[in-house]
Amino acid sequence: MEIISDIKEMQKRSYGLREKGHRIGFVPTMGFLHRGHSSLMEKAREENDALVVSIFVNPTQFGPGEDYEAYPRDVEKDQALCQKVGTDLLFSPSPSGMYPSGFGTAVSVSGITEGLCGASRPGHFDGVCTVVAKLLNIVCPHRAYFGLKDYQQFQVVRRMARDLDIDTEIVGLPTVREPDGLAMSSRNAYLTPGERKAALTLFQALQWARKMVEGGILEAGTIEERVREMILSTNGASIDYVSVVDAEELSPVKIIRDRALLALAVRLGKARLIDNIILEAGNRQSNG
Ligand code: PAJ
Repeated sequence: MEIISDIKEMQKRSYGLREKGHRIGFVPTMGFLHRGHSSLMEKAREENDALVVSIFVNPTQFGPGEDYEAYPRDVEKDQALCQKVGTDLLFSPSPSGMYPSGFGTAVSVSGITEGLCGASRPGHFDGVCTVVAKLLNIVCPHRAYFGLKDYQQFQVVRRMARDLDIDTEIVGLPTVREPDGLAMSSRNAYLTPGERKAALTLFQALQWARKMVEGGILEAGTIEERVREMILSTNGASIDYVSVVDAEELSPVKIIRDRALLALAVRLGKARLIDNIILEAGNRQSNG
């Protein structure tokens, strides 16, 4: 595995791989890697000739007062994990390399960025889209892999790639969970032991919602209200949002007719945790 921090060098290496006919699989990350990340890396390894992973804690997707400075970092452990899954190139640029003085461009997707995390984190998806567009231009991958844990991010990136004719297939893969159901996240590191127990409320609430739908409750408002009550009965948990939305457009729905997404964001101590589930009317379920 080679570690590259220079942007031009990374681009040159990608062009070289493409010239040789190699297919490039790419997994962008912010590091502090866990099994959620490695599931993407393993799939990308399997489906492509070369695996490129990026580690870059992107300052522009953090709002004022958010956890950019505190965001957990462990370079050595991350490098070992990348090595273990067979990464060919680990790209880790510097903030000043990515955003030199005079940088003045932002990529902004409208519509599907308005609700959910877009509403509670203004500017967040502009930061995500801008950095992902840059990374795709630098790495030029045939396929880029994203986790459905960040369901809105996946849909937003897919929309951006489509709208800008970016020649990369955007692949979404299922959420990897701890044995008890908590979605793996770098931000779980913020949780105290008590909060870690309380954090299970997200998964339990999603499962409960699935049961409600199986039991024939299809009114989004009813599901949202019951899920809110359940989360609020958990010690120390406060709600950022609980929303049932159309699974593609992410617009609010009143009644679950076919497929809908139940997405939630919950604060527990220093952590803001998100999770989601696909709810399917007609007594069938699946998950992202
Ligand atoms: P980060 O939070 O490091 O996540 C990198 C990728 O791993 C994302 O696609 C995310 O959805 C996926 N991921 C995280 N936890 C997961 C889990 N439990 N199961 C499956 N996949 C999981 O998301 C970002 O970084 C950034 O916004 C980024 C796209 C890199 C742009 O800066």
